[in-house]
Amino acid sequence: MKPRIAIDGPAGAGKSTVARALAQALGLTYLDTGAMYRAITLSALRKGINLSDAGDLARLAQHISIEIRNDGPDNQNMVFLDGQDVTEEIRLPEVSRNVSVVARCPQVRTILAARQRQIGMRGGVVMDGRDIGTIVMPEAEYKFFLTASLEERARRRQAELEAKGEKIGLAQMMNELSVRDQIDSGRECAPLCPAADAVHIDTTEMTIEQVVRKIAVSTGRSA
Ligand code: CDP
Repeated sequence: MKPRIAIDGPAGAGKSTVARALAQALGLTYLDTGAMYRAITLSALRKGINLSDAGDLARLAQHISIEIRNDGPDNQNMVFLDGQDVTEEIRLPEVSRNVSVVARCPQVRTILAARQRQIGMRGGVVMDGRDIGTIVMPEAEYKFFLTASLEERARRRQAELEAKGEKIGLAQMMNELSVRDQIDSGRECAPLCPAADAVHIDTTEMTIEQVVRKIAVSTGRSA
């Protein structure tokens, strides 16, 4: 079976970009699990659902259709919500600000993790998220936990948003990321934390290419 590679870590540590490039280089499927939580959050915001109501969120998660396609530019996941392409919209700051509250709902996690596990069982996948090495694919052959300083993570996120024409100050970005980190790490169900056997990589002073190469080498391949 082709390998399963789990990549976890806090927001802005470079997981998605690294996972996407790694999957492309190694000919594996890429799954951005955060995109699924973002899609549910976008749907909840559009429908005006109270994000603190676990029952309403669970009903929403059961009834909406989230389709992830592996055929976007640069191997990006394309995300379809009830058939509509929301690949761009799920990255809006409004979604980023609310996604951790939705993701701490246990029923939402159960529904999404089951789908993620199914994809993982096929093998040949690079999956990134918060609980991939611990809950979704604890049996993955390779596990990595990416970190970077809060300031560097905020700078990267700022640059991403600026490329899309959105401006946000560094202090505000640092604050938003740290609030999200706290909710993700502090929740009871599947908190953000490294698997005991994960390889830790501090990406603060590394380029994406360097991280991709380091991971590929750790798995006995070259990228
Ligand atoms: O790209 P970024 O690092 O900003 O975050 P993401 O991977 O898109 O994930 C967005 C949010 O979804 C996270 O802050 C978590 O609240 C949640 N998430 C999660 O709980 N479990 C996962 N496996 C993936 C994401």
